[in-house]
Amino acid sequence: MNTDHIVRTFVEYFQDRGHRRITGSTLLSPPGDSVLFTTAGMHPLTPYLEGRPHPLGRRLVNVQRCLRTTDLDEVGDSSHLTVFEMLGTWSLGDYGGSQSIDWGHDLLVNGFGVDPRLLYATVFGGDERSGPDTDSLRTWEERGVPVELTTDENWWSNGPTGPCGPDTEIFVRTGEGPPRSTPTGDDRWVEVWNHVMMRHRRGDDGSLGLLPRPNVDTGLGLERLVAVLQGKRSVFETDLFEPWTRTVPSLWPLDEPSLRLVCDHLRSGIVVIGDGVLPSNTGRGYVLRRLIRRALTTLWRDDPSRTLGDLPRELFQHTLDHFGQSEPGGRVREVFLDEEHRFTRLLERGRRILSRPRFSTPLDEEDYSYLHDTHGLPRDLVRGLRGGTPG
Ligand code: SER
Repeated sequence: MNTDHIVRTFVEYFQDRGHRRITGSTLLSPPGDSVLFTTAGMHPLTPYLEGRPHPLGRRLVNVQRCLRTTDLDEVGDSSHLTVFEMLGTWSLGDYGGSQSIDWGHDLLVNGFGVDPRLLYATVFGGDERSGPDTDSLRTWEERGVPVELTTDENWWSNGPTGPCGPDTEIFVRTGEGPPRSTPTGDDRWVEVWNHVMMRHRRGDDGSLGLLPRPNVDTGLGLERLVAVLQGKRSVFETDLFEPWTRTVPSLWPLDEPSLRLVCDHLRSGIVVIGDGVLPSNTGRGYVLRRLIRRALTTLWRDDPSRTLGDLPRELFQHTLDHFGQSEPGGRVREVFLDEEHRFTRLLERGRRILSRPRFSTPLDEEDYSYLHDTHGLPRDLVRGLRGGTPG
């Protein structure tokens, strides 16, 4: 099953059960939101989870692109990506958690062909916030799926305030040999699907109340699901990254973690530019700048003559097409090249300034402030030029 087939199977399964497909939003979070980018499939739906009626009804399904930079240092392993897609379903005050679990189990086993013996679920075991989620526990037991009870790992929220609630996560066993432990103790259990009983709301004063109606919000990370279904060790080995992993290694020989980081960051950079962001020193533009500069720093570690100008045009277009973005690939490429040029100039200036006698001893706070305020050299970059890795 290739990625398109997997997405279609998911969406049609829920459409057949009365869900309307909503168009995924861009990566830009709605105005007034406290975060810069959409970080979860439910994010653009927050007002509807909080009680506003949705124009398409009470059963929804979608595919939403998301960007998370909280895990930036983990990019390079087999599963972390900065831009990823989330398949999601919602019951806005309609059916309950047991129905959601039932469909989830049926789709994984009968729709996607996952061996039911490879499944494990985690369920909220109860704490001072809320009692144990006995409905989910019973539903899984009826389906013969083993359950691990946890507390913090099974309480979902998208931030300090807003809709939240207990969740149940579905794991699929990967790798060779019998599991060494339950999902929280053996990372060969891969979490594929989260079903959140979104019935609470955390207020600005920290208090926990009930939402006007209980919802169910579910999310599956597409890339991870594809890797599991295609039997791949890592998301980078799936068809989603095929043009990247086919072209980049012959262009720039890199070790495995560096190759993953470069592919991830450049791919994310394309999508962020495709959603209308340009590199800058603040906000969204700064996130984009960091993605491109981190990729360049990795490329230049072995060979400073490498340039993004060598990146095949096919990669720009393939990525923009996959995300349904209309920005011309040639324009995105120009933004990359312009940013590469600025970064090159900044590094040259930084090297010149840091070679002054004043900076021959270890730097103190005053030096860092001076370099930043007078010469526009961020601390990370200065550290990198003095032997670490600019980030
Ligand atoms: N909100 C949950 C998550 O992001 C499910 O959509 O995992």
